[in-house]
Amino acid sequence: MIDIEFVQPDGTRERVFSREGYTLMEAGVRAGVPGILAECGGACACATCHVIVDPAWVDRVGPPNSMEEQLLDLVDLRDPASRLACQVKLKQALDGLVVHVAPR
Ligand code: FES
Repeated sequence: MIDIEFVQPDGTRERVFSREGYTLMEAGVRAGVPGILAECGGACACATCHVIVDPAWVDRVGPPNSMEEQLLDLVDLRDPASRLACQVKLKQALDGLVVHVAPR
């Protein structure tokens, strides 16, 4: 299992566990993490799964793909560490991942 910590804009922290192969968005939605709305169901079309990767994890998570990059350009409050959670595949190397739910 992969241990993920979602941090809300108010500092509230929630740990979620997921199997490898799911996306970060799926892990958040299944656990009912507030702020991970995923209105497009993971089609990289809504940006309502916007998260900011904790600085300690940016290199391991990697950069956005080209389609994701275009959508992130439209997001207010974009951060250099912004990712769309539906585009982040969970793998064992991400065990312990910390992400911040983007403020709205
Ligand atoms: Fe819509 Fe990620 S769920 S862009």
